[in-house]
Amino acid sequence: MEKKTRVIEYYEYKDMNELADNERRLMEQAMAAANHAYAPYSGFHVGAAVLLSDGSVVTGNNQENVAYPSGLCAERVALFSASAQHPDQHIVALAVVGHNQEQYCEASPCGACRQVMAEYERRHGQKMTVLCYLEGGRIRRITGVESLLPFNFEAQL
Ligand code: THU
Repeated sequence: MEKKTRVIEYYEYKDMNELADNERRLMEQAMAAANHAYAPYSGFHVGAAVLLSDGSVVTGNNQENVAYPSGLCAERVALFSASAQHPDQHIVALAVVGHNQEQYCEASPCGACRQVMAEYERRHGQKMTVLCYLEGGRIRRITGVESLLPFNFEAQL
C-alpha cells in the first residue's frame, strides 16, 4: 500500500472589494437573492448566484417546506434553474451567502449541492469558481469542485 495525499488550493479575500468586478457583482446578487428566501422553519436565509458563460446570471434562494425534506438549498435552486433556462451555457462561477436575520454570514455548499456542481462541471467540461461569504465579510474562492468534493460519485453507465 501507499499513502497518498491531496492538497486543495483556495484563496481568501479580506472583503468583497478585493474581488474582480464581475465576481463582486455576483456576490452582491447572491446577497440580494438571500432577501427573498422562503425559510420560515430555519430562519436561515441563503442566496446563490450563478454566472454563465454568456454573462447571464441566474439567482436562487432556499425554499423550505413544512414537509422538511421537500425543501431545497439556494445553490440547487440556482443551478437547476440555470441549467433549465440556459442548457448550453457552462457555469463560470457560483456565489453563496447566508443571512441569519441579523447579518450576512457564512454559507458553504452542502454535500448534495457539491455533487450537483460536480455533475455540471462534467457535463460542460469546465471548472467553476465557487465564492463563499465568510465571517466578517471575507470571501473564500475555490476553482474546481474536485477541491470541494474529492472522489465524488460518477456512475459508469
Ligand atoms: N441551506 C442552503 O440553502 N444552502 C446551504 O449551503 C446549506 C443550507 C439551507 C437549507 C435550509 O433551508 C436552511 O439553509 C437551513 O439549513
